[in-house]
Amino acid sequence: MFRIEVDNINSKTESLYVYGDRSILTELEQHNVFINHSCRQGYCGSCILQLLFGDVIHQDSFIPLSKGEILACRAIPVTNIKIGSRD
Ligand code: FES
Repeated sequence: MFRIEVDNINSKTESLYVYGDRSILTELEQHNVFINHSCRQGYCGSCILQLLFGDVIHQDSFIPLSKGEILACRAIPVTNIKIGSRD
């Protein structure tokens, strides 16, 4: 089980405990933390978040990401992580 620390995303700061078998976007939604998204398949980039620490794997990512950026719809935590908004 991994911990996702949500750092002030849509005014929410909390810790989620997840099994690491679903995307970060899905986990956030399950915990009523809602972020922008559209395609859910790694194409549009609307779900980009900042990874503040920890590691994720991307199932697919079809757009270039800057250092520390993750696609919430395609990223799965593989360690405890901390995430924040892009800006
Ligand atoms: S929702 Fe489109 S890339 Fe994540």
